[in-house]
Amino acid sequence: MTAVNRVIQDRLQSDVALINQLGHYIINSGGKRLRPLLVLLTARAFGYTGSQHIDIAAIIEFIHTATLLHDDVVDGSDMRRGQETANNIWGNEASVLVGDFLYSRAFEMMVDVKNMRVMEILAHATNTIAEGEVLQLLNCRDADTTEARYLEVIHSKTAKLFEAATQLGAVLSKRPDDEERALAAYGMHLGTAFQLIDDVLDYSANADQMGKNIGDDLAEGKPTLPLIYAMRSGSSVQAAVIRHAIENGGRDEIAAVIDAVQDTGAITYTADLAREEAQMAAAAIANLAPSVYKDALYALAEFSVNRTY
Ligand code: IPE
Ligand code: IPE
Ligand code: MG
Ligand code: MG
Repeated sequence: MTAVNRVIQDRLQSDVALINQLGHYIINSGGKRLRPLLVLLTARAFGYTGSQHIDIAAIIEFIHTATLLHDDVVDGSDMRRGQETANNIWGNEASVLVGDFLYSRAFEMMVDVKNMRVMEILAHATNTIAEGEVLQLLNCRDADTTEARYLEVIHSKTAKLFEAATQLGAVLSKRPDDEERALAAYGMHLGTAFQLIDDVLDYSANADQMGKNIGDDLAEGKPTLPLIYAMRSGSSVQAAVIRHAIENGGRDEIAAVIDAVQDTGAITYTADLAREEAQMAAAAIANLAPSVYKDALYALAEFSVNRTY
């Protein structure tokens, strides 16, 4: 991870001062570095001895960071990683454009890897994230969004990059197709669990611990699973409160919505689903040879469900 950080700092450089300033601000603000860690662990779990996993890990963190810069603009968020968002400090234009810089820098770095399979997986994952974010935009303020449609969004916007990270560990190690698929499945399930818990935390976390504001999803009228489930299983009054909150957005009804979400067991339902996904992630890597790296992959599956930040 120290080597990954070195590449990240090195490739963040630009002659344009604002890119350096904003770029360093977001990159050094205390992200968990989960996705690059997954690249390193999966490559090492297969005994990979080269150095390209370092570059790929940095590329994936750049792509992740670009999505966060854009996401905070789209979501109108003013807190991330326990500090003010870049859009709050430098404005939406600067955030979007530095996000573009990070995406395109990631693609320059990808070309340097000189491996068509790597290009293919990362280009496809990046494109899928964009689709997921647009699909989610279409669901906003739509209280009739189904659980299936919600799942499609989180598979695309979040789990796809986890999948790319873990699949690439197998690709770099030149493992057979079935092992590559198993690692891809691990990443897809892990990323799904991770986003399910993110959506739980938006209604139940401690903002200081999470480093993001509570209720951002509701403010946008975003129909996440806790709301979809609470509408489905709550009383007609509870369903009406949530429907109204989704259709109108804002934070006015947050207390009533949190009450309904807690009362209907929607938090438990969503967390249970996350737990199942984490179990499927762990099951997918059962055939990996035992190693400390495999143990760490198991530990990350647990972390994705038990995390509070
Ligand atoms: C945030 O991801 C975006 C989601 C997919 C929920 P992380 O929680 O991994 O963000 P950082 O990098 O650790 O801040
Ligand atoms: C995160 O989306 C997924 C991407 C950045 C593509 P969210 O909007 O759900 O995540 P947070 O809560 O802002 O981190
Ligand atoms: Mg957001
Ligand atoms: Mg978002």
